[in-house]
Amino acid sequence: MLSAEHRAIVKATVPLLESGGEALTTHFYDMLISEHPEVRPMFNLANQASGAQQRALANGVLMYARHIDQLEQLGGLVSQIINKHVALNILPEHYPIVGQCLLRSIREVLGAEIATDAVIEAWAAAYQQLADLLSGLEEKMYAEREAAPGGWRGTRLFRVARKVRESDEITSFYLRPDDNGKLLAFHPGQYIGLRLVIDGEEVRRNYSLSAMSNGEEYRISVKREPNGKVSNHLHTHVNENDTVELFAPAGDFKLEDSDKPLVLISGGVGITPTLAMLQAALKTDRPVHFIHSARHGGVHAFRDVIDQLAARHPKLKRFYCYEQRRAEDADAHGIGYLDEKHLDAWLPRTRDVDVYFLGPIAFMRAIKKHLKAIGVPESQSRYEFFGPASALE
Ligand SMILES: Cc1cc2nc3c(=O)[nH]c(=O)nc-3n(C[C@H](O)[C@H](O)[C@H](O)COP(=O)(O)OP(=O)(O)OC[C@H]3O[C@@H](n4cnc5c(N)ncnc54)[C@H](O)[C@@H]3O)c2cc1C
Ligand code: HEM
Repeated sequence: MLSAEHRAIVKATVPLLESGGEALTTHFYDMLISEHPEVRPMFNLANQASGAQQRALANGVLMYARHIDQLEQLGGLVSQIINKHVALNILPEHYPIVGQCLLRSIREVLGAEIATDAVIEAWAAAYQQLADLLSGLEEKMYAEREAAPGGWRGTRLFRVARKVRESDEITSFYLRPDDNGKLLAFHPGQYIGLRLVIDGEEVRRNYSLSAMSNGEEYRISVKREPNGKVSNHLHTHVNENDTVELFAPAGDFKLEDSDKPLVLISGGVGITPTLAMLQAALKTDRPVHFIHSARHGGVHAFRDVIDQLAARHPKLKRFYCYEQRRAEDADAHGIGYLDEKHLDAWLPRTRDVDVYFLGPIAFMRAIKKHLKAIGVPESQSRYEFFGPASALE
């Protein structure tokens, strides 16, 4: 337990962290990545370069400090963090490394006058409390998925059973356990962690499971990112019969049970988790409105699959919006950015719906705003980030 004095010091540091939080975490990340090669593979360095990772951590630390008296109020954030950590196999032994770097950078960035021994001691105790909380919950998740049928801990070797081109940019990989064992069930919307060694360097990335499992294989669908390390490697060098290592599925962006009409909104490769959600929802009676936005028809993946499902399931309505107007895409339902007018027309009449959305950050910001404008209750829309969490307002 944190002492009252420690709590008071940590709370008093909040305004300081709010004004200088990012500088602190930037310094901290530089230190962590340069001095501790053992944790480097877990971080996507592109997210670090963009600053998004530092912002996500700064936000995590600030929220924690603000709620130090009522940690239960962190609910959603804790679940988000532990799921991201578990998918990348963050372990208890990594916490002291992060803790040391965080405390050293608090001292170096704030200077000895502000970061006195008492401040550092209070933060050390607070960090320990948070580390114990997170690593305890993470261990619970590791143990549960190890004990479940088809589950495992750490990496498991999977073989690429099929590699299927879905669009000019997206390719699917069907992955079977190399040991031919059972496969852990997952919730539609969840993702796996992939571990690869590229040019002698270990890297880890998350990929959403883009189809419900048939009990024998998982499917991921990967967009080739310009100059992206892992996506290009997968597209170019990983072929049928090759193996990759996976961490067990995780993620708190999950299709929840409900009778309300379901609205799935995606932009680009953000379609992947919504495909698994759609498959699961079509097994129930709820109406589904599937709205997808792509730059144009050439990069629109899974269109045939959705069209075929819509032909078989009258309760599924689908709408496609293309950013660019091309003669060959005349059958798109909308042209331009997916906006309030499109959503107003394409959502069910009732706004008492469950919405799940995902896409590039700018797309997500716009969707959140449009949903609010057309009267969808905020508490009924959920979203996931294909990178570190960001503010959508
Ligand atoms: C929960 C979750 C689910 C996901 N699901 C999917 C999915 O279903 N399908 C999918 O395709 N992706 C998914 N992603 C994204 C995926 O994890 C990878 O981030 C994505 O494949 C890009 O990785 P990469 O190694 O190819 O690119 P990276 O090497 O990470 O590069 C990404 C971009 O940053 C640029 N960049 C790299 N380094 C720097 C630098 N130093 N400075 C400036 N720019 C730089 C690159 O040029 C590139 O454009 C998901 C991510 C998360 C967190
Ligand atoms: C108390 C300690 C920690 C806190 C408060 C914390 C907080 C966070 C937060 C807020 C995120 C972003 C979540 C999201 O984007 O949804 C995150 C992601 C992450 N954390 Fe932690 N974390 C802690 C410890 C650790 C440790 C010990 C490691 C391992 C070295 C680690 C590695 C990562 C990685 C690899 C990611 C994902 C990075 C990415 O998207 O590139 N974290 N953490």
